[in-house]
Amino acid sequence: MPRFAHVTGWGMAVPHKVLTNFDLAKIVETNNEWIVDRTGIHERRIAEDGETTASLATDAALKALDMANLDPSKVDLVIVSTSSPEHIFPATACLVQDRIGARKAGAFDLSAACTGFIYALNLAAQVIRTGNVDNVLVIGAETLSRLVNWKDRSTCILFGDGAGAFVLQATNVPGGVLSAVMRSDGSGGDLLSLPAGGSRFPTSAATIAQGQHYIHMNGREVFRFATRVMAQATQEAVIKANLQMEDVHLIIPHQANQRIIEAAVRQLDFPMEQVVVNIGSYGNTSTASIPIAACEAIQKGQLKSGDRVVFVGFGAGLTWGAAVVQWSGPILARRRRLPRSYRAWARMLSFLNRVTRFIEGIIWGRWLR
Ligand code: COA
Repeated sequence: MPRFAHVTGWGMAVPHKVLTNFDLAKIVETNNEWIVDRTGIHERRIAEDGETTASLATDAALKALDMANLDPSKVDLVIVSTSSPEHIFPATACLVQDRIGARKAGAFDLSAACTGFIYALNLAAQVIRTGNVDNVLVIGAETLSRLVNWKDRSTCILFGDGAGAFVLQATNVPGGVLSAVMRSDGSGGDLLSLPAGGSRFPTSAATIAQGQHYIHMNGREVFRFATRVMAQATQEAVIKANLQMEDVHLIIPHQANQRIIEAAVRQLDFPMEQVVVNIGSYGNTSTASIPIAACEAIQKGQLKSGDRVVFVGFGAGLTWGAAVVQWSGPILARRRRLPRSYRAWARMLSFLNRVTRFIEGIIWGRWLR
């Protein structure tokens, strides 16, 4: 029997703190008119103390599991796409796996910058189709506000924090993820990068003094690249799904710049009313932007069960890609709220795992001596 990967749950989480263009104008030399005119951004959300990539990812994941009516213990795989992981290791996905109590799940992070959610969606669909797993949690989560230089007006105005999550489940009903394309061009890696803090330039007094631990970007070049690849990737994914652009109900693009979105849509000759744009409220939340925009589109009734939607994005790497999805909605008719106790239960489980490891350590320590 062929297997299909359907999106059966979705959820988003953004910090409460809003940073408007007017607030930014007090920090760097900029103004509301310039930012709105050049980017379409009015405000963005910024993580406060205690809010991290994993906490936002966990909040979005629990909402998505609730929507899919899926017990966390049934999740087979957790993929967190992020460019602002909590640490180089352990993977943020492992922290999320522990916090949601997905005790039978594998977990890993995926690094493909703003295109990451599309890569993750495609990988999740592929492992489901092979019959290897049934339930995958795909999360895009960022706290890029912790990595931008708040003195650099060319980057700090762009980014915001947030997370979005999809639950993908196996069924024999045709639909779900229909196609995807994933592309990269490492020759443009220097156009958008965070140079230090990895193994090539470990953090040192010198890297900090040179500001190498912040995001560096050549905005004009990234703009040119983005307008070129967005339309191209959309068309490739649509053809791969054996469809034509007329069969597409909605495009949900990566929210990096309203002008980039409009330029791509013009090249596709596609109606702008069928394109989801929410960059005004959140800025560029990188890999979280597509699932956040999808959640809002569903809330507003723009994306409905049966619709064919194209997700398309680009980002550092350089990377770009697109996916065509026949939207499904929750499989089960009856919705049930995840009990609040799930978080407490996951914490208890995590504590028990630590205690077990401690006891095992004593027993094995004695035995090995
Ligand atoms: N406020 C006011 N003026 C600003 C400014 C700001 N925040 N940032 C730059 N400027 C100035 C520049 O200094 C420059 O002034 P000059 O002409 O006197 O030298 C002028 O505005 C134009 O700068 P430029 O960089 O050419 O602007 P732009 O129209 O290309 O817009 C970006 C800049 C960053 C908004 C745009 O290039 C962009 O969005 N690029 C893509 C970035 C992106 O999407 N990155 C994420 C990828 S996932």
